[in-house]
Amino acid sequence: MKRVAILISGGGSNMMALVRAMEGDFPARPALVLSNDETAGGLQKAAALGIATAVVDHRPYGKDRAAFEAAIQQQLQSAEIDIVCLAGFMRILTDGFTRQWEGRMLNIHPSLLPEFKGLHTHERAIAAGVPTHGCTVHLVTAALDDGPILGQARVDVAADDTPETLAQKVLVQEHRLYPAVLRRFAEGDMRPVFLA
Ligand code: GAR
Repeated sequence: MKRVAILISGGGSNMMALVRAMEGDFPARPALVLSNDETAGGLQKAAALGIATAVVDHRPYGKDRAAFEAAIQQQLQSAEIDIVCLAGFMRILTDGFTRQWEGRMLNIHPSLLPEFKGLHTHERAIAAGVPTHGCTVHLVTAALDDGPILGQARVDVAADDTPETLAQKVLVQEHRLYPAVLRRFAEGDMRPVFLA
């Protein structure tokens, strides 16, 4: 049984989708929910479910990202984590940290990568006039929103979609995709999951 840490910065709806999936015959269990922001709504939701939580505030570390990540690494090690899932974790990670977790750290991104890396993906998808948008789960490498794709789910963009309505439609798919990918990944199966 793989031990999973979920790293969040906000509401944690993807974290909750992962946690809800990790029961019964699922090959992984949530061992830690960690946030860089003590006000992240997801922390309380996780704690209410009896999951261990931790806060590593990035602010006292200033520009010293390596020291911030060393503090995260300590938490991950003491929780004996096998797999890290980034789920709305809004800090950019250094090469050193991503190398430490190479092949064992996943991220969910709200676009069909390699399209729309970075922020404001829904606004940019609408501005570009793409007919289809969606979300991607990928292995984390040193390059931002890069790395081998483990799964994607697609969403049709309607003519009257706003960034908000599109974000909501994509989020519904994120909640389906991330657990499906994690299940396969935790079983050691690297074939990507494509959801319609
Ligand atoms: C999700 O849409 C996730 O894809 C996105 O943040 C949201 C977090 O929502 N992640 C990124 O933009 C990463 N660059 P949640 O806290 O409700 O899961």
